[in-house]
Amino acid sequence: MARPTGKQNYGRVVLVSCLALLAAGLVADFLWASSHRFSSVGMSLPSSVTTVIGQLPPNSNGKDTEKKKDKVRERKLSATFQDLAAPELKWEKMAAAPVPRLDGAAIQIRNFLYVFAGYGTIDIVHSHVDIYNFVDKSWGGRFDMPKEMAHSHLGMVTDGRYIYIVTGQYGPQCRGPTAKTFVLDTDTNSWSDFVPLPVPRYAPATQLWRGRLHVMGGSKENRHTPGLEHWSIAVKDGKALEKEWRNEIPIPRGGPHRACVVVDDRLFVIGGQEGDFMAKPGSPIFKCSRRMEVVFSDVYMLDEEMKWKVMPSMPKPDSHIEFAWKVVNNSIVIVGGTTEKHPETKKMVLVGEIFQFNLNTMKWYVIGKLPYRVKTTLVGYWEGQLYFTSGQRDKGPDDPAPRKVMADMWRTKLILNP
Ligand SMILES: *[C@@H]1O[C@H](CO)[C@@H](O)[C@H](O)[C@H]1NC(C)=O
Repeated sequence: MARPTGKQNYGRVVLVSCLALLAAGLVADFLWASSHRFSSVGMSLPSSVTTVIGQLPPNSNGKDTEKKKDKVRERKLSATFQDLAAPELKWEKMAAAPVPRLDGAAIQIRNFLYVFAGYGTIDIVHSHVDIYNFVDKSWGGRFDMPKEMAHSHLGMVTDGRYIYIVTGQYGPQCRGPTAKTFVLDTDTNSWSDFVPLPVPRYAPATQLWRGRLHVMGGSKENRHTPGLEHWSIAVKDGKALEKEWRNEIPIPRGGPHRACVVVDDRLFVIGGQEGDFMAKPGSPIFKCSRRMEVVFSDVYMLDEEMKWKVMPSMPKPDSHIEFAWKVVNNSIVIVGGTTEKHPETKKMVLVGEIFQFNLNTMKWYVIGKLPYRVKTTLVGYWEGQLYFTSGQRDKGPDDPAPRKVMADMWRTKLILNP
């Protein structure tokens, strides 16, 4: 599969597929609208349509249409499973992490990127923390996690010193989540127990907002069924100020693998999916088996009114981005992820772009191309450079399906749209 660039010409064919997509989009949109309580979701333009329009070349005179004919068939399938036109960036390879890591978690505090847990392979999970120092450009400071702490798909957030670690999947393959919750004091690297979540959750959206730890969405115990519940608890300096989690307004769409970001006193929930792999019934090792997932481009926002508001959608559906974001200069920057499955092969399709949601203008941009497509990558930012490490990369430039679990660390100069 080709990575389209803005230079390619496929004028008429694209216009025709645009119309087809528009029709398909409207049908899909109708289905969405009718299957969700949150009706305003269905009002926005399907992202597949906006994507194609965005890819139209400026000069559609069709002069190198011949060369592109073989690529046209794929374009007609769906614009959402494909790469988007994106600026090429200069990438610098940094020291690789001590271990490859998939579905781990990361928290940046000053010049340190704390990288937690994750699968090494589908049968081996990590139970330790590695630390990258942006100043020394090196890894070190490994220490163990509590034995009872989940090994992947964690909810995690920091106040700048204490890191709250909420539920997540316990064990390898497709085992279910635990409700156990912990706090790490990064001044002393010491752990303490925290109030367990009312029920275990798999990859819930987690943030600190207005003095409370918020946890919402994710999947239920079977990894697949979306949870809509939203809880919060008052916290200060790594301790709960209340005995129990409080029920909050449920989120419009449940499911795991979203970015959850607080900027300027507003809480954003971005992308994600409904459904995920599940343990094969009766399998003694909880062997993962594929279930269909629906990836979305939805963005929701909570502000002081405590009502969810629909924000402009991402340039394409994007999931597996829970620790793949940074806030820089009032923009949310999101790296890689997964998008809609391939419509013919049904294989998972990884994302190879960097997105910017500019909160000054409330506009999304595609701001760069990654060295490879990658999901659940872990992102940091230091002195003008955007860093990413870990995750699972694609099979190669022409095959966006997932393959190798990575330890590599890369950086590039971050260029934002003002
Ligand atoms: C962020 O804003 C500062 C101040 O305007 C500017 O110097 C810097 O280049 C910006 N960073 C990025 C990544 O755009």
